[in-house]
Amino acid sequence: MRNSKMISEKRNYLVLNTEQAKNIVKDYLIENKFEVTEIAYGLPEIIDRYDIWNVPIIYKENNIGEIAIDAYDKKINTSLSSDISILVGRMKKVDIGEFSKPINIKGLKKTSKKKHDYAISNLNNMIIKGRSEIALGQLPEQSIDLIFTSPPYFNARKEYSEFHTYEDYLELMRKVIKQCQRVLIDGKFFVINTSHVLVPRASRSESSTRIAVPFDIHQIFMEEGFEFVDDIIWQKPEGAGWASGRGRRFSADRNPLQYKAVPVTEYVMVYRKKPCILIDHFIRNHPNPEIIEQSKIESDYEKTNIWYISPARDKRHPAIFPLELAEKVIKYYSFKNDVILDPFGGIGTTAKAAHKLNRRFCTIEVNQEYIDFTLNDFNKNASNFLNNFDFEYIDYSNLTEIQNDNVDLKRIIKELLENGISQNEMLLALQNLKKAKM
Ligand SMILES: C[S@@+](CC[C@H](N)C(=O)[O-])C[C@H]1O[C@@H](n2cnc3c(N)ncnc32)[C@H](O)[C@@H]1O
Repeated sequence: MRNSKMISEKRNYLVLNTEQAKNIVKDYLIENKFEVTEIAYGLPEIIDRYDIWNVPIIYKENNIGEIAIDAYDKKINTSLSSDISILVGRMKKVDIGEFSKPINIKGLKKTSKKKHDYAISNLNNMIIKGRSEIALGQLPEQSIDLIFTSPPYFNARKEYSEFHTYEDYLELMRKVIKQCQRVLIDGKFFVINTSHVLVPRASRSESSTRIAVPFDIHQIFMEEGFEFVDDIIWQKPEGAGWASGRGRRFSADRNPLQYKAVPVTEYVMVYRKKPCILIDHFIRNHPNPEIIEQSKIESDYEKTNIWYISPARDKRHPAIFPLELAEKVIKYYSFKNDVILDPFGGIGTTAKAAHKLNRRFCTIEVNQEYIDFTLNDFNKNASNFLNNFDFEYIDYSNLTEIQNDNVDLKRIIKELLENGISQNEMLLALQNLKKAKM
């Protein structure tokens, strides 16, 4: 709210704070014969573009609409507010279970009552060899501050990914996203770089198809406890797109219907782990305010969701992303000293960017060769790295999913016992665990 106060004072608003805004809305609703006893108000926010205060209206934990107040004259701006009749209609829908707005609403009393301790991870830098869907099971819950990754492309090249079916591919994505959700700290970010995949035609009589991988992965994020934040477009120079072969045929014949756009973009999708506690919590309650100050971003940051970055090449790996991309993501979505995870680490671009920016890293990669390159790069350049730089190399490649389940189980039983939980509750928890594994 510090910023809001500043704006309201700077612009000489008549409505100066959130309490005042809530009271104005309450009076307006009462005047309009709206039943206010059963509703609550979300956190009022200033929309400075319109000079209004926006007050969310909450009914049984559902955001059923907003009322906007003109910040200069305290009057309700009806054109920017939900109609009273719409609010009443939505309350009825909530009562019969037909209203399905997300329930994590900023400032909603029920969620903000929960006190969030400030989680500081004690993980050291780690280079892990193994399959992410298994190795991630070894990391403690809520120990990661930011995840940035680029998963294997569905059947892109044999040397680094092969799947029997697209469903197998999505299943792997779900397993990894699920584990990532567990290890990520509540309210922190998961940024993922993906692009649509071209499946080449099998014969001359067929045409190639494209699979909208980012949209299917988006659905998994929605189902696995994340909130969608941003779709950033990574735009490459035009030349980079012709290599895909798409659009070549059209450029030769230029017949209508044969048009195919040359792809020069990839997605950088941004998600947050629910519950999406206020970002302010991470800034205000950080145990070391100096870190917050040191993590501030320079003024020439990316202002829009289109980022122009040239692709990177490295003869040791066919699909790395540029260090510049990793650096931007890390700067924008983490503080210094945070732990940055890349579950599909390749030759360690995320880890290198994290280290360069004074963050800790955890990179997981299944391919021995890529692990060796990562280790080699860190060892070779050890003298260029920061003081006291150290990392652990862990080999989880022999771990099976069954062993992993046992580790999960042991950890859960320990936690339950520490919390003085009864035998019945323990059984219930084990049943739930079994269900979750199915
Ligand atoms: C698109 S590449 C990532 C490249 C990386 N961003 C870089 O700049 O080096 C995806 C990587 O995931 C790895 N991979 C595939 N399946 C994996 C799995 N189940 N667990 C861990 N790594 C996996 C592949 O070997 C490949 O190196």
